Amino acid sequence: MTSRFEGRTALVTGSTGGIGVAIARAFAAEGAHVLVSGRDAERGEKVTAGIAEAGGRATLLRADLTTGAAVRELAEAAERAAGGALDVLVNNAALLVFPSPTAHLAGELIDAALTVNIKAPMVLTGLLAPGMAARGSGAIVNLGSINGLDGMAGSALYSTTKAAVHSLTKSWAAEYGPSGVRVNTVAPGPTFTERIAGSAEALEHVRPMLATLPSRRASQPEEIANAVLFLASDDALNIHGTTLGVDGGYSAVRSA
Ligand SMILES: NC(=O)c1ccc[n+]([C@@H]2O[C@H](COP(=O)([O-])OP(=O)(O)OC[C@H]3O[C@@H](n4cnc5c(N)ncnc54)[C@H](OP(=O)(O)O)[C@@H]3O)[C@@H](O)[C@H]2O)c1
Repeated sequence: MTSRFEGRTALVTGSTGGIGVAIARAFAAEGAHVLVSGRDAERGEKVTAGIAEAGGRATLLRADLTTGAAVRELAEAAERAAGGALDVLVNNAALLVFPSPTAHLAGELIDAALTVNIKAPMVLTGLLAPGMAARGSGAIVNLGSINGLDGMAGSALYSTTKAAVHSLTKSWAAEYGPSGVRVNTVAPGPTFTERIAGSAEALEHVRPMLATLPSRRASQPEEIANAVLFLASDDALNIHGTTLGVDGGYSAVRSA
């Protein structure tokens, strides 16, 4: 067991469920004070209690990222919980949109996906990265997706939001890197969270793709967490603006 994050504080958005839970647990297991965040207080408390039982330190900061006011409150609460010096921000929360023809996308769904997946990380980073830059150190890891790399029929909305995340990573690497803040992306392929593995519709969509991957399988949430921790850690000190695929080889080959 290593302790790469001893004495550091990490905010993980969307850590009340799915991949975010694995990321929060992994940071705590390596010594970080983890700020768990999401809308659902009951699931959030379960995550923080589990981390505490395992000997780690976690604080729940409930937030619904659909409003600018809530994003600002989350940033202030995170800075307070971190004693004024947040070390790591993981922009993980997202609205996963199931495949749908563009013509069937309701305006409310388009607004919600653009707000949670693009605007919220943009505002949150704009609030927290300057403090890191002023202190001369910090790491930001964004969760992108293989959906942000290629065109996929039925995925116009979700793919657009994830392509935007990949682009933000590069812009922020250029903007904050010279001040000692590293910004990178982890781009997962299909990952078997409870939500995906438990959905017949999602599995029907994902299985044909898995059959074309070098790995022939989906990722586990813990495998995504391992990549996030690497990029946030001092093991990656000269890595800026990269997109690390944890995708069974999807981004490297067309079909294996
Ligand atoms: N699973 C995959 O196969 C896959 C593949 C590629 C990329 N990704 C990316 O990985 C990240 C995590 O995905 P996931 O599969 O773990 O998703 P998930 O299981 O749906 O979990 C999403 C998390 O985001 C939070 N969230 C959603 N809307 C929110 C809002 N309005 N305000 C605050 N929090 C909100 C949810 O918490 P509450 O419900 O408590 O709000 C939950 O903790 C996302 O960025 C996704 O795009 C996932």
